[in-house]
This record gives sequence, C-alpha cells and structure tokens, in this order.
Amino acid sequence: MDNAAWHQRFILQSLWTKALRAYLYKPLNLAAHSRILEIGSGTGALLPENLSISPYTFGLDFDYQRNQYAKNVAPNANITTANAYYLPFPANSFDLCFCHYLLLWIENPENVLKEMHRVTRPGGTVIAFAEPDYEGRIDTPEIFQDIAALQNASLKKQGVRLDTGRRLMQYFIQAGLWNVSMGMLSGEWKGKQTSDFVLEWEIISHDLETLLPHKEIEILKQKAFKCLAQGGAFSFVPTFYALASV
Ligand SMILES: C[S@@+](CC[C@H](N)C(=O)[O-])C[C@H]1O[C@@H](n2cnc3c(N)ncnc32)[C@H](O)[C@@H]1O
Repeated sequence: MDNAAWHQRFILQSLWTKALRAYLYKPLNLAAHSRILEIGSGTGALLPENLSISPYTFGLDFDYQRNQYAKNVAPNANITTANAYYLPFPANSFDLCFCHYLLLWIENPENVLKEMHRVTRPGGTVIAFAEPDYEGRIDTPEIFQDIAALQNASLKKQGVRLDTGRRLMQYFIQAGLWNVSMGMLSGEWKGKQTSDFVLEWEIISHDLETLLPHKEIEILKQKAFKCLAQGGAFSFVPTFYALASV
C-alpha cells in the first residue's frame, strides 16, 4: 500500500473518532495560541483539524516519507521526523499532546507517554484517542471470525500488542500522569457494506500477506465478499481512549 492508500485509511479512522475529539476538546478551551502536538501523525489526517484551532500545530512521526506526504496535506503544520521515545522538544512546550492509533505499535507505551508528559506544560493535557483491543474483537459470521484470527496473528507478527486498549489506564498511570480517565468509542452499525469493505479488504489483505500466499488470500476474499452479499456480516474491535492532566 502506498501513502495515498494509507491516507485514505487514516482519514476513515479519523472520522470514527471525530465526535469523540469534539467531546474531549470542548473542556480544554483550546484557542489560537494553544500549542498542540500529535505524536505518530502519519500522513497528517488529523493535522488540518488542529490547524483550524491553532497555527501552533505540530506533528511528529519517525517515517520520513509519511511526513513528506503530511506536508502536502497540512502545509502550515510544523512536522518533525523523530522517534516518539525521544521527543526533540523542551519540557513544558505544549498545551495538548495527543496520539491516535499509535500506542498499539509501541513496545513500551509507558515510555512514550512519559515523553508526552514531559513536553506538556503543567495544567496541560495528554490524550490517546483510539487504541484498539484486538483480543476483545467480535466478528461474525464464521468466515469473518477466521479472517479476524488471521489478521490478529499478522498484527502480532508485525509487532502490535493486541490488548493495548484494555491497558491504557495502566500505561498512563505508569507514565506518572494523574486524573486519568478512560472510555470506549461507542458506535452504531448497519452491517458491513460491500463499498466500505473494499477499502477494509485492502488493509486485511496487506496484513494477511505476512502469513499466507496470494492464492489463499484470494480464496478468503471471494468467500468474504460472497458472505457480505448475503448480508449481516459484522466486526467490532473495542477501541479505547484515555485522557489525563499534567
Ligand atoms: C496507524 S498510524 C496513525 C497515523 C495518524 N496518527 C492517524 O491516525 O492518521 C501510526 C503512525 O505512528 C508512527 N509511529 C509508530 N511508531 C513510532 C515511533 N516510535 N516514533 C514515531 N512515530 C511512530 C508510524 O510511522 C505511523 O505513521
């Protein structure tokens, strides 16, 4: 998958958390002078929204190519290539430091959160908006259960900690953050639509490529789309957020 395809995926994920962001941002009273940093900003899907709040919007990712893509998406954002474990910012630099679908990819999330804590000013806020718990997922009917089990195996092989979601509170507390609250993204589903599943399948097949030959992935694809056409297929991955004061 190229960065344009990843961006499409990240935009879709950002829509899933749009209402949550509005809800969590409201009490923070962010304004045009607020300094906002996203860790693991990827292709920049969330940067334009933050720029609309403040020109002091920063993104950081260790993937140089993604950062180049993000610079086109959000030319006015300050984008840095660096590792989340060692943030190249002085202490107390930001009012809000957040991440979105990042910690699942991090071997020691508490260490990244410690850095997020360090660069956020006293009275500021640290938020992890969306961390999935793949071990708690529900997929139905059987063909989707089979695909989900394979996708989880692939994610694990790629270095994802599958139960990150349920551990969020623990990671925040270990990072020395206080007044931590945690919640889960709620939702409403109409059953999988074939049109949406085309993009979802791109991600699934990208993951399955780490485990299966192309031929077997094609067979699963045929079965999944046939099942979809019959209706009623459903996938739910519990996805958590956490927020804390500094
Ligand atoms: C799933 S993407 C999410 C991108 C963006 N937050 C969004 O939601 O659109 C996770 C991003 O985290 C970045 N990432 C993973 N580990 C990192 C690390 N140790 N330091 C910096 N970036 C990291 C990846 O390069 C990737 O772009």
